[in-house]
Amino acid sequence: MGAIRFDNVGRIYGTKQDGFEALKGVNLDIADREFMAVVGPSGCGKTTCLRFVAGFDQPTSGIVSVDGVQVTKPGPDRAVVFQQFALMPWKTVCENIELGLRNKGVPKAERIKKVNDILALMSLTSYADAFPHQLSGGMQQRVSIARAYVLDPEVLLMDEPFGALDAQTRVVMQEELVRLARRNPRTVMFITHAVEEAVYLADRVAIMARQPGRVKEIIDIRSVREAERWDDHEKIEDVMDLESFVHLRTQIWRSLRQEKAMEIA
Ligand SMILES: Nc1ncnc2c1ncn2[C@@H]1O[C@H](COP(=O)(O)OP(=O)(O)OP(=O)(O)O)[C@@H](O)[C@H]1O
Ligand SMILES: [Mg+2]
Repeated sequence: MGAIRFDNVGRIYGTKQDGFEALKGVNLDIADREFMAVVGPSGCGKTTCLRFVAGFDQPTSGIVSVDGVQVTKPGPDRAVVFQQFALMPWKTVCENIELGLRNKGVPKAERIKKVNDILALMSLTSYADAFPHQLSGGMQQRVSIARAYVLDPEVLLMDEPFGALDAQTRVVMQEELVRLARRNPRTVMFITHAVEEAVYLADRVAIMARQPGRVKEIIDIRSVREAERWDDHEKIEDVMDLESFVHLRTQIWRSLRQEKAMEIA
């Protein structure tokens, strides 16, 4: 359940004759319940790829599928967390989080319990009745993450979800996401510019290149994490100090820097 496949995917914006080739020959397999981080230079097509899986957009060539079924539209099996929070301004925090459950037809008593649980988890309980404009950016982002988690979807699509958070809140959210992901694994496609974040969170990291956008390298994190017992360390900074962590981070940095160098040359 929840296995994602990109099969020779391309996307041309504009006309086929006179268009911009944003993606070409993207191949990527994200296994059921695997946490895949995607990194790459700005404009390489990360968001475009995520939108295909969400069903908001379609490739101009190739196929994107979930569990072997071609994606043609959004569905309740896939939830998206955007960089921009996209909350409904006229609804309270509680109502924003509840909306998806309502649309799924979850009975009221169960909705209330689920919403209360996730509010507590995200330290938002005292803001349940606030409106989005009364919250800071970091709090709004927690609401938008809560809104996705509460649906317990098979596939979680996250586009730089922590980009707008302050450094401390970001660490709390990262540790929380790791706890959630280990306790209740879901298939996750997680876009980020932060290499440390990718290494800390993911089972594998896909590195994209641009012009045209494609997946150029995949780095396995999970085997190292398990062999080196990263999960024995509770705090993110302790994990980030480990030699095995630093090694992977450097490897990804080098690969990204190579892209940048090619761009400038
Ligand atoms: N609707 C559109 N019309 C034309 N070009 C587009 C459209 N959407 C995206 N593009 C182009 O496709 C390329 C990939 O865009 P995309 O937003 O997927 O990049 P990204 O990797 O998410 O970048 P960033 O890291 O800055 O968010 C970019 O060159 C962008 O200009
Ligand atoms: Mg993007």
